[in-house]
Amino acid sequence: MVEQKEQLYEGKAKKVYATSDPDLLIVDYKDDATAFNGLKKGTIVGKGVINNRMSNYLMQKLEKEGVETHFVEELSERRTVVKRVEIVPIEVIMRNVVAGSLSKRTGLPEGEKPSMPVLEYYYKSDELGDPMINADHAVAFGWATDEELKVIGATARKVNEYLVKFFAGVGVDLIDFKIEFGRYHGRVILADEISPDTCRFWDSKTKEKLDKDRFRRDMGGVEDAYGEMMRRIGLSK
Ligand code: TMP
Ligand code: ASP
Repeated sequence: MVEQKEQLYEGKAKKVYATSDPDLLIVDYKDDATAFNGLKKGTIVGKGVINNRMSNYLMQKLEKEGVETHFVEELSERRTVVKRVEIVPIEVIMRNVVAGSLSKRTGLPEGEKPSMPVLEYYYKSDELGDPMINADHAVAFGWATDEELKVIGATARKVNEYLVKFFAGVGVDLIDFKIEFGRYHGRVILADEISPDTCRFWDSKTKEKLDKDRFRRDMGGVEDAYGEMMRRIGLSK
């Protein structure tokens, strides 16, 4: 069992602690919610517990599919031991249906289905508001190597294929999601989280939103939506 040491970092949704093992960290999920690069702030009661448990559940499923992740061990409702990675400063977004910023950027209506899943890269920078970039930018400016991007792209598509099928099985359309990767002993592995904060989930039949868009867009029913996603997956709240 690893021992929790000093806090290294506090982000918008998580705290990160060092441990007695230099290769491992503990993440602690908060109920704090932000949107629009921190401009909108609030609390989603119970979110930390849901995101921790859902992300761990999905990462363990993905491990079984051959995707290496940072997950090591769930310690408690909100805390998990993860591999200590060096985060690649790129947010990877996979889109199966037009929504959010893609709709704004292109004028295409939310709900339109592209002919194939669309992969996008964003440069992780709070000061710049995470601008969209392409693969050339990432390599040319040293944010990732060509080889790393190949692994990242292939893994993102594999994760998407698996998650689309998984969520379809519980009556949920996976509209889009954001993932991050980290370097660990020379490999690039899946890190960060997969949760209603980082995915768009629509009920397959009613198209009701079951994710953080309810918070971003002041729609109400945020906690209920997160709880409903836990129930769909078969995780009790
Ligand atoms: P977008 O349409 O606003 O670009 O968001 C695409 C997906 O990425 C959506 O599922 C929400 C997720 N996302 C994050 O997880 N973090 C972010 O900072 C942003 C902007 C989006
Ligand atoms: N990362 C965004 C923010 O801070 C949150 C989001 O829109 O999901 O505010």
